[in-house]
Amino acid sequence: MIKNVRIEPVLNSRGETTIFAEIITNRGTYSASAPSGKSKGAYEAKAQPFEKIKKLFPAVRKKLVGLDESEFSIIDDTLESIGVDRMGSNLAIALSMAAVRAAGNGEAYAALGGIKSFPYPLGNVVGGGVHGGGLSIQEVLVIPVKAKNVREAIDTNFAIWHAVGNELGAHGITGRNDEGAWVATADEAETLGIVTNAAKKFGAKVGIDVAAGQLYKRGKYYWPSLGRTMSKSEQMDKILDFIKEFRLVYVEDPFTETDWESFAQLMKKTKILVCGDDLFATQPERLDIGVHRKAARAAIIKPDQAGLISKTLRAIHIAKDGGLAHVVSHRSGETCDTFIADLAVATGAPLIKCGISGEERVVKANRLAELWDKVKKPVMTKLRL
Ligand code: PGA
Ligand code: ZN
Repeated sequence: MIKNVRIEPVLNSRGETTIFAEIITNRGTYSASAPSGKSKGAYEAKAQPFEKIKKLFPAVRKKLVGLDESEFSIIDDTLESIGVDRMGSNLAIALSMAAVRAAGNGEAYAALGGIKSFPYPLGNVVGGGVHGGGLSIQEVLVIPVKAKNVREAIDTNFAIWHAVGNELGAHGITGRNDEGAWVATADEAETLGIVTNAAKKFGAKVGIDVAAGQLYKRGKYYWPSLGRTMSKSEQMDKILDFIKEFRLVYVEDPFTETDWESFAQLMKKTKILVCGDDLFATQPERLDIGVHRKAARAAIIKPDQAGLISKTLRAIHIAKDGGLAHVVSHRSGETCDTFIADLAVATGAPLIKCGISGEERVVKANRLAELWDKVKKPVMTKLRL
């Protein structure tokens, strides 16, 4: 039984205030903290400022105390009845994740059905957009497809990240961004050339997150790195050029979140993983539409976009049923919470996006390795590229 619930304001990796929540039961104390996005979608659940949450929290606490913690969906239902947007997705997801841990007596994966298989880490190597960097697109990513286990996969991503960092030395490297990806003055084509070469040496594949919603204004896409605006069809051509020239296997949010039609058109023109992040915003109803309209082959799953783990699981279920690969993902503002690693292994996610460099990213990779060792015959999830 839940004896008490408490929250605390803590800082995330960007220095913003986020929520740390603790659920105290007869068996123990279980905690979690909420991540925070910067490149947010219009359809995701809304976070609230701590001051507002503090005022509402006593009422939330009152409803949770006394509940049976063995079924986390009961706690989620209670949170849902209060209203996720009202209490803040940051409060809701911290409580919901802590509730899963309480149900699993500390091990989130146990409450989520156990360990199925292990995801390939989709690692952010060079960045841009609102996360900081010279690129207009937000992320240049690598997938260590040849890795036979998670440790090898993580090592490969780190080796590529180091190699690209050395290479970018001659291209105005200025540091690392919010997600620990390199920041340089090279443009998209130059950067993709460098990353593709490095990835090839390690047998890895390359992808991008365009985060096109951030470039979109009144029907057009503005690319600061190229100093030009692109129409919808020019945007389509640019993406297709990148796919062809750099043999990309993954493209996330190539168009803004309302443009189902362009996503569907791109799907017809390529066989690679077209992935929706802001497009779906981890909302089950939007995944339904996406499956129906054949708008994507992959879906980003960010628990805080949904606000509740039970809702996140519904979104994953629809994605899987519809034949989409689900990509469990961190946010750019992270804490050292490792919940997403458990969620990825328990749902058999083919990919996990948890960054490469930075303590708040590395802890997730370490959790994957720790879980790998818990299983008798661990396997990587089948990745169809
Ligand atoms: P965010 O971006 O966490 O800053 O919202 C991540 C992404 O777009 O994948
Ligand atoms: Zn994204």
